[in-house]
Amino acid sequence: MQLLEAIETRRSCRKYTSEVPSDEMVKSLLHYATKAPSATNTQPWRFAVIQDKALLDHYSEETKNILLASNTELVEKYRHILSNPDYHVFHHAPTLIIIYANQSRFFSITDCSLAAQNLMLAAHDGGLGTCWIGFSTPLFNAPHIKEELGIPEEYEAIAPLIVGYPERTLPPMEKNDPEIICWKK
Ligand SMILES: Cc1cc2nc3c(=O)[nH]c(=O)nc-3n(C[C@H](O)[C@H](O)[C@H](O)COP(=O)(O)O)c2cc1C
Repeated sequence: MQLLEAIETRRSCRKYTSEVPSDEMVKSLLHYATKAPSATNTQPWRFAVIQDKALLDHYSEETKNILLASNTELVEKYRHILSNPDYHVFHHAPTLIIIYANQSRFFSITDCSLAAQNLMLAAHDGGLGTCWIGFSTPLFNAPHIKEELGIPEEYEAIAPLIVGYPERTLPPMEKNDPEIICWKK
């Protein structure tokens, strides 16, 4: 797949087959993630991979519990979804890759987000679907979960990304035209 075609056709996938991406495939995605630019080349990204179905089911419930116990604007907007017992935060994807920043520097969030986009495009190129699961960021920053996963306390979860083989191909999504607010010549 050509790069521009990948950019044009990537979609957030929320329905996966049960096929688990191979270790080689996961490692290849991480490889492409690390090719992203980063401020002063700090490369702050570190990766956690979870392919344990029971653990993902458990973390889906934990995510909902954490979010529903808070009263943020985001939660109020999505409370009806998060309260649904059938809602699976990770959409039953067979793999979750969490990009953590190993240091809290000025541009860590930006750097890790660029790595995430590389990973999502590389996955799409390899016939895999992805979706960024922002709902789960608070869970993966919770001290007890970091301890459970062996993640150093100071690391910050930036991009939880589900990965798997899409059940079907999604049509490209219409996006707004670019709004140019300044163009000086
Ligand atoms: C930072 C971020 C957080 C997101 N969080 C979630 C999420 O928690 N759950 C979910 O199903 N989709 C989530 N998404 C996916 C968006 O809903 C999706 O990107 C958007 O609807 C546009 O669709 P597209 O990715 O197919 O172009 C998130 C995307 C981003 C970039």
